[in-house]
Amino acid sequence: MDDVSKELTLLIRARYPVVYLLTFEEDRAEKTLSSIASKMKKKFVSWSVTNDSSKSHAPMKALSALEDAIQSADSAIFLFRDFHPFLKDEQVIRKTRDLVNDFARSHKTLVIVSPTMTIPAELEKDITILDLPLPNRAEIESSLNEAISFAQRNPNLSVSLNDEEKNSVVDATLGLTLTEAKRIFSKAMLTDHMFSTKDIELILSEKKQLIRKSGSLEYFEASDKLTDVGGMNTLKRWLTKRHSSFSNKARDYGLPVPKGVMLLGVQGCGKSLTAKAVASLWNQPLLRLDMGKIFSSYIGSSEENMRKAIATAESLAPVILWIDEIEKGLSGVKSGGGGDSGVTARIFGTFLSWMQEKTKPVFVLATANNIKELPPELLRKGRFDEIFFIDLPEKKERKDIFAIHVRKRKRDPKKYDLDALAEVSDGFSGAEIEMAIVESMYIAFGENREFNTGDITTALSATVPLSRTMAEDISELRSWAKERARPASEPVEEV
Ligand SMILES: Nc1ncnc2c1ncn2[C@@H]1O[C@H](COP(=O)(O)OP(=O)(O)OP(=O)(O)O)[C@@H](O)[C@H]1O
Ligand SMILES: [Mg+2]
Repeated sequence: MDDVSKELTLLIRARYPVVYLLTFEEDRAEKTLSSIASKMKKKFVSWSVTNDSSKSHAPMKALSALEDAIQSADSAIFLFRDFHPFLKDEQVIRKTRDLVNDFARSHKTLVIVSPTMTIPAELEKDITILDLPLPNRAEIESSLNEAISFAQRNPNLSVSLNDEEKNSVVDATLGLTLTEAKRIFSKAMLTDHMFSTKDIELILSEKKQLIRKSGSLEYFEASDKLTDVGGMNTLKRWLTKRHSSFSNKARDYGLPVPKGVMLLGVQGCGKSLTAKAVASLWNQPLLRLDMGKIFSSYIGSSEENMRKAIATAESLAPVILWIDEIEKGLSGVKSGGGGDSGVTARIFGTFLSWMQEKTKPVFVLATANNIKELPPELLRKGRFDEIFFIDLPEKKERKDIFAIHVRKRKRDPKKYDLDALAEVSDGFSGAEIEMAIVESMYIAFGENREFNTGDITTALSATVPLSRTMAEDISELRSWAKERARPASEPVEEV
């Protein structure tokens, strides 16, 4: 039995009257519950407003479904679909409370299946909330086996997968719902009447597609390496040290799985770049969570979006969940007051408690450059393993960055006076250094020659770095970070 089935069985046995099962997969929930019911020798009753044949209006149907459940003399599990909209109705709330009283003394359990959480305050204490996580390996595997045996019975289809290859197919499919998985398996077979390792690529691309469609998550192809990041020696060391803590050996040793890190810092100094580099350093997929999309209502309710994003990330673990510019999504939390701030605060709460309690290896990498918008709870101990502050690069770091970008343009850094460039670029961010190099290439290309140190110097002097126009903001950020964050790089003594 999987973990949810165990948990559900426990709740039912302990006579919890109402369980609220959060999931997008009603069918899977129904299958799980009906199998629990048969194991426990209970009657299983499934209700939804559309399969209720009585002629009354919807809220009346809900009321009489509750009444029927109360009247029932059987030991039973009642599964209600699409019931959550009725939990706004006073009479339905009242009736549900009656049911709670009755069920607590009987062998009956009501399970409300819903993708969103809408529990009225009156019922909060009586309802137990449970998440039905996305299917695990075993469930995906059995669905794959079904698909394979279907293909083997069908003379037009053939299967060529050994055990190891089957495992890879399962890996590729993790993160999808069972319905999506089944659909993908059929598609994989039907495109060329053959199910083989070749289809893994198809599955992966379909999965990316689905995850993208789901709204707030995006697969990110990370090609940047840690060696593409200049400076930040402390942060790099920290990240490198944690690489091995995802291994089984580290588990056996008792090391905790890293929770996450927050990168705070000046614009253009490599926060996003570092996120991508960590993914290649640790060899883990990078999922970017778009906070803006979590809150955009046309995709679904914000709460649903957040839960789905978390569930998807967990099912793909070990994975890096990258939340770029986290402050943009959370600005409502701190300012409080009217508008949507209630919703924002609730979703933020969901996120925080997940951060605190998560056991799956989902490493959260959040970046921010505006501390004023950040709710203080986010920065409290226990959420992130560490908060790093990424300042403007020092001279030695700028030299590194020049070398990295010259090399990226397939030129030999030895041909440039990097020390001189580092000297004259005080106050420039990594992004501005890169821009100056690109600009110098334009200058030289226009004159039909190679670009040189002088061209880069010219480009630099034509730019006013953000650190000058935003001097005040940056010094404020610095003094804030001094007390609360760890510097991403040790101060380098300049000789
Ligand atoms: N430390 C660095 N080493 C090498 N390149 C850098 C560094 N910092 C910035 N760059 C260059 O500048 C580009 C932009 O930087 P990045 O997007 O990582 O900055 P950011 O800190 O995320 O900025 P923002 O706050 O504007 O999102 C990078 O893709 C990279 O090419
Ligand atoms: Mg960025």
